[in-house]
Amino acid sequence: MSSVLGSTPTLTPAEQRKVYGLLPTSVVAIAGLTAEDTPTGFIVGTFQSLSLEPALVTFSIAKTSSTWPILRSKGRFTANVLSNQQLDVCKALGKKGDEKFKGLDFDITEFGTPHIRNATAWIDCTVLSEVVAGDHFMIVGSVKAMKVGSGDALIFCGGKFGDCNLWDPAAAEAQASDAPSLQERITDAWRRAWGEGDTGAFEALVSPDYVRHSKLGEVVRLPEMLKQIEESHAAFSDFKVEILHATEAEGLISLHWRTVAKHTGEFMDVPPTQRSVTVHGASFIRHRNGRITEEWVVWDPRELLSSMHIWHLNHQPA
Ligand SMILES: Cc1cc2nc3c(=O)[nH]c(=O)nc-3n(C[C@H](O)[C@H](O)[C@H](O)COP(=O)(O)O)c2cc1C
Repeated sequence: MSSVLGSTPTLTPAEQRKVYGLLPTSVVAIAGLTAEDTPTGFIVGTFQSLSLEPALVTFSIAKTSSTWPILRSKGRFTANVLSNQQLDVCKALGKKGDEKFKGLDFDITEFGTPHIRNATAWIDCTVLSEVVAGDHFMIVGSVKAMKVGSGDALIFCGGKFGDCNLWDPAAAEAQASDAPSLQERITDAWRRAWGEGDTGAFEALVSPDYVRHSKLGEVVRLPEMLKQIEESHAAFSDFKVEILHATEAEGLISLHWRTVAKHTGEFMDVPPTQRSVTVHGASFIRHRNGRITEEWVVWDPRELLSSMHIWHLNHQPA
């Protein structure tokens, strides 16, 4: 567990900001009118619902705010809940200045406060009370009216703006139970690569240090392995790869497979025989952190040659 506090119990503002910055907040523009009836306001991340009966809200504003005394004297404000499309409004009202509303779209309501257009919601309040709390005033507002606008609320967290990415628990659960396991994904990607020549999914699952060991101990990397698939598909058509068994233990997936294809191109020095060939084999695929790192493959070329009706003198079947 890391701590932002040293051995001294003094909490500096920077230390506190670091921790409070972890909490996502809404971004609300507190807006009202000056004595000359021009709109003004500021941004708070401290706006909260406080009570439902009666309807009360709260926010805190620094004692150094030059705008709050103006709104206070009018005794009313609107909390404009900003949407994720209103970062410009946040920037305009989040800094000091005399013409904060310049260029902003708003309407002055009958209530006597600015409603910033396209906000997510508007909450019209009168100032009920104020608590002096350290370097801030804590304001309690009495809600007089509220209206829902459009869009998703803007969020501020960790010094960054964003919006809320809500979880749908039912969908997340369904996805978790339906999601194919890594074994299923690797098996399917492997079958599609060898069976259909569609290597995209396999390539996406392969780690940069992937190696494939052949039955003779030869070691190849991904580009060479992709070339082997290409060569197989060039020499055989109607390729069908079937996974007969797939098991997994300790990060090693074992596939027992059967390939059936038509010999239509030269392979292993044998010109096309147009015969249907069958080969059985096994592949052992090691994975780490969700990526395929190593593969061993074994198959018997004699099975292939015999289904081509080609016999090697020293390997003639009984
Ligand atoms: C995302 C965001 C959240 C803020 N939250 C608060 C807040 O809760 N309280 C506060 O006093 N100032 C907050 N501020 C800063 C004020 O909006 C800013 O200091 C403003 O200029 C008020 O000062 P003024 O009234 O003197 O213009 C926030 C600013 C931003 C951008």
